[in-house]
Amino acid sequence: MTKIKACLFDLDGVVVDTAKYHYLAWKRLANELGFDFTEDDNERLKGVSRMRSLEILLEIGDKTLSNDEKLAIAEKKNVWYREYITKMEPDEILPGAVEYFKELKDAGIKIALGSASKNAVTILERLKIMHWFDAIIDGTNTQKAKPDPEVFLLGAKAVGVDASECVVFEDAEAGVEAAKAANMKCVGIGDERILAKADFCVAGLHEMNLKKTEF
Ligand code: BG6
Ligand code: MG
Repeated sequence: MTKIKACLFDLDGVVVDTAKYHYLAWKRLANELGFDFTEDDNERLKGVSRMRSLEILLEIGDKTLSNDEKLAIAEKKNVWYREYITKMEPDEILPGAVEYFKELKDAGIKIALGSASKNAVTILERLKIMHWFDAIIDGTNTQKAKPDPEVFLLGAKAVGVDASECVVFEDAEAGVEAAKAANMKCVGIGDERILAKADFCVAGLHEMNLKKTEF
């Protein structure tokens, strides 16, 4: 059995449901560009970087834009997205997350964030959960997007734990692939048909406890 010494959490879809706010902002952008964007389309953007998300959105709308235009509208989307997240309240933390953080901390297990988002700190501050994290690795201090393992390898390094003693919590397929490429254990949050490469899946952190954190 492996003794787990660090838990690395994705943010969007694991600790908080920000997908709905990303959706509203992307939909507004798509509508402004003259096409529709559905919740099903939004599934394709989960775990994907902001610029890659925009490229997928433009593919859906069959639009071609210059690089400068893309940068400008990605920024516009982010301004709209931030209007939502800067109003978030701590009751939007997904069930079981704080209880699980406490259990891990009491057991001496390190906690790190491994997110693609450049807005991660804003969200953690709004939710008042910054203090739980021993390290925060996000879109502002990574170069390569998931499924590249960079974000999780940096997280393990920041808390001084070997990759083989880390477990990653992820709701996106690219995130599970990143965890496995980092040689870490992985708990999928959500549909096990989509997250088939995870070691096991749960519906949310409310289904986790210390006992289940053994591999
Ligand atoms: C990921 C989300 O966590 O962060 C993606 O799952 C999002 O949907 C990505 O595109 C980047 O987020 P941000 O906040 O930097 O635009
Ligand atoms: Mg996610």
